[in-house]
Amino acid sequence: MARFSIIFAALAVAACAAQQALAPAEPPAAPSFDPALVRKGAELAALGDCNTCHTAPGGKPYAGGRALKTPFGTLYGTNITPDPETGIGRWSGAAFRRALREGLDREGRHLYPAFPYEYYTRLSDEDIRALYAYVMTREPVRASPPPHELRFPYNVRALLGAWKALYFRPGVFQPDPRRSAHANRGAYLAESLAHCGACHTPRNALGAEMKEHAFDGGEAEGWHAPALNAANPAPVPWSAQQLFTYLRTGLDAQHAIAAGPMDPVVRNLARVAEEDVRALADYFAALMPGRGQTPEAKADSGGPGAAIYAGACGTCHDRGRDASSGSALPLAFASALALPTSKNLLRITLEGIAPPAGEPGRFMPGFAQALTDAQVKELMRYSRSRFGGGAPPWDDVDEELRKAREDK
Ligand code: HEC
Ligand code: HEC
Ligand code: HEC
Repeated sequence: MARFSIIFAALAVAACAAQQALAPAEPPAAPSFDPALVRKGAELAALGDCNTCHTAPGGKPYAGGRALKTPFGTLYGTNITPDPETGIGRWSGAAFRRALREGLDREGRHLYPAFPYEYYTRLSDEDIRALYAYVMTREPVRASPPPHELRFPYNVRALLGAWKALYFRPGVFQPDPRRSAHANRGAYLAESLAHCGACHTPRNALGAEMKEHAFDGGEAEGWHAPALNAANPAPVPWSAQQLFTYLRTGLDAQHAIAAGPMDPVVRNLARVAEEDVRALADYFAALMPGRGQTPEAKADSGGPGAAIYAGACGTCHDRGRDASSGSALPLAFASALALPTSKNLLRITLEGIAPPAGEPGRFMPGFAQALTDAQVKELMRYSRSRFGGGAPPWDDVDEELRKAREDK
């Protein structure tokens, strides 16, 4: 019922809220952009993860085509190279700014919030100018991404007008004069460009962020993005220094590796100014007051799960992580075991962990073929009770295992 009344309201709002198209512009010549502005834009693009969604695996940078799975269907990152036909080569700076600030394309159509303009709306004019300079000086690529595959009614773009009226609050970030420049920088990055909450804040049934639950833990492409506030599940509480190391390298001595959708985030943060990563680390360290216990494995309960663990996992994870291959963190230290859901441990178990092709990183084999569903379930039960820090058994293993198998 609620959904239908929203759709009805949507049609009403959408009907009277047609947005203006902005005139096509001649693509500005690449050399006309100030190289310093382009360099700044490159850093901002890394902080904003523009490459993650706008580059297909193995594809040309920013030419689009990367699939993004959402609860409403699959969206594809668009081509944001300056190609005039298939990219944004005919977009003026004003059209580009409007896309980031208001979630509208050049023709005035509403954009899906899978493009995190709910965050980019807070960007400063100056940063948007630098991003524009960077994007418009990339190699133009002629390429059209596949059309989005969204279920009805989500495939009706005009309904986004109502969604935005209900949930979208445009507006530039306002620094807090009582805070230091460093603290304001951390807040600006976390709450705008780096859009940490886009994954780490939960969303309602219509995909809108529950703002009163900021950083309570959300979902990203079938993974759980853990809480980054007092509810953070990490068995060893994060210090600011550890967070910095994790965000910079994906690996900190006492915490799990940044896997799944967090991996591209840290690969981008490795390329930006150290000071910005410090500002982000300090921002989140302040939100996650430590609870200060040392993780411990519970007594081995035996059973079929114990044997599966010993054969498939313990050989590496009981060794502890050092520089050698075949070594890995004891699982009592891993957040995946302490989360409210089994989905991350399931995905890591089935898919393993591997760096993107050609990049350095630690490697764990996937067990999708080696383990049957029954074995995986036994392993989940055992691992949770032995390494989950006393958390209750998971009740979502059957469903999450089915989803993880489908996504393989
Ligand atoms: C989480 C994924 C994601 C990230 C990160 C992201 N985008 Fe996008 N972006 C999308 C998707 C998906 C669309 C298409 C939305 C639609 O069709 O309504 C889009 C659309 C756009 C558009 C409109 C293009 C068009 O053809 O209509 C622009 C411009 C854009 N993004 C620029 C950027 C920039 C600049 C950044 C980095 C600051 C960025 N995006 C980061 C997913 C993303
Ligand atoms: C595209 C989605 C996405 C974005 C954007 C994102 N994260 Fe994450 N993050 C995740 C997921 C998923 C995990 C769980 C990864 C795992 O299990 O290895 C995670 C894990 C983490 C962890 C480890 C938590 C723990 O206690 O185990 C931290 C810290 C973190 N993210 C911080 C950040 C910060 C800071 C930002 C913004 C700069 C950010 N994330 C942006 C998806 C995201
Ligand atoms: C060949 C060695 C190896 C085996 C076998 C192995 N892993 Fe891993 N695992 C790794 C490595 C390497 C990482 C990357 C991070 C690290 O070094 O700890 C990792 C990461 C993880 C993580 C994220 C926490 C972390 O260590 O950063 C989890 C959870 C995990 N593995 C679970 C499992 C489970 C469950 C099994 C058995 C089904 C398993 N692993 C088998 C090597 C292994």
